[in-house]
Amino acid sequence: MCQQPVDPPDSGDRQFRPHPPTLYPPRVANPTPLLDPPGMAADLDRIEAGLRHAVEADDPFLTEVARHLIDAGGKRVRPALAITASLVTSMEPVSATDDVISGGVAVELVHQGSLYHDDVMDGADTRRTVESVNARWGNLEAILAGDYLLARASEIAARLGTEVAGLLASTIASLCEGQIREMQHAFDVDRSRDAYLTSISGKTAALLATSARVGAIVAGHPRQLVEAVTDFGYHYGMAFQVIDDILDVVATDEQLGKPAGNDLVEGVYTLPVILALGGPSGDDLRGMLGGPIDDATRDRARMIVRSDAAIDAATRTAMDFTDRARASLDDLPDTPAVSTLRSTCDLLLARVADLSA
Ligand code: IPE
Ligand code: IPE
Ligand code: MG
Ligand code: MG
Repeated sequence: MCQQPVDPPDSGDRQFRPHPPTLYPPRVANPTPLLDPPGMAADLDRIEAGLRHAVEADDPFLTEVARHLIDAGGKRVRPALAITASLVTSMEPVSATDDVISGGVAVELVHQGSLYHDDVMDGADTRRTVESVNARWGNLEAILAGDYLLARASEIAARLGTEVAGLLASTIASLCEGQIREMQHAFDVDRSRDAYLTSISGKTAALLATSARVGAIVAGHPRQLVEAVTDFGYHYGMAFQVIDDILDVVATDEQLGKPAGNDLVEGVYTLPVILALGGPSGDDLRGMLGGPIDDATRDRARMIVRSDAAIDAATRTAMDFTDRARASLDDLPDTPAVSTLRSTCDLLLARVADLSA
């Protein structure tokens, strides 16, 4: 039997408008800010308000599930990158425009949607120090709510123009390609460094590049500048994932707020593992990997990767990427935002020493 049609929601209520920050609680303190230049706290509060507003659904359950990770915190690197990229020509600290805030909200929603899906794929129980969405409500709920976040992001991007909308759509496609490439090499002890780099380019660097690009496009910067910050975001994003993968080996669950060592369990052999497989203890490691492992084997494998030169070598790769990120800023003016972009490279690399267990 057909259901009675319900009144369509008032489309005016659906319009995305960043709310004043006072309507919402302040964002969860970020213990390791990577991109927090002076003056940006108020802009990040506008991002928080925008995120919560963007995911409000008619159904309170969907709103609750969609807000779960927003309320849990997170570093907000992608919106911070969009805001900073929009300000690269400003000699004085100024507020970001509403459109830049909307762009920052859109890229963070894409990120969070991808985390909902990633935690289903990884079977991860925790995220941002709280229960993951899949652990709390189930895989189906996590997949649907993740789709919902991606849809809301697309809606906001559409309001920012066709270029931004197209960019966001192709970035989501890159994310899927990167994740598929990773899946194709699951439990593959012969995964190459190149295969790894191609995967992280799609699954992570593409969105960091887009975050910076959206900020610059929406701010109306000249093309040359848009390309420069995109290049920065891309190479910073490559380093970002390499560092995340090192931290999966060297840090603890508590430090990360998500399960450490899970990459090995899921058969995702990342750069430090690939390098250790080619090192002096490679044969021992190879004997442990290649299929499902118990916790004791995971811990022994992590010890091998840690004690080898692999962590240093992987860190050098991250440094190469941050060097390339910094080089892309060479022709930019000497402004507070540009120096923030430079210093975030140092803060990112410092995470390995700061979070080594
Ligand atoms: C986690 O990203 C996924 C990766 C691309 C490594 P973040 O480290 O930015 O996660 P949050 O947003 O701070 O939780
Ligand atoms: C990043 O990879 C996943 C996405 C880009 C969605 P990871 O699987 O390493 O991310 P974490 O470690 O779970 O945050
Ligand atoms: Mg994961
Ligand atoms: Mg990881």
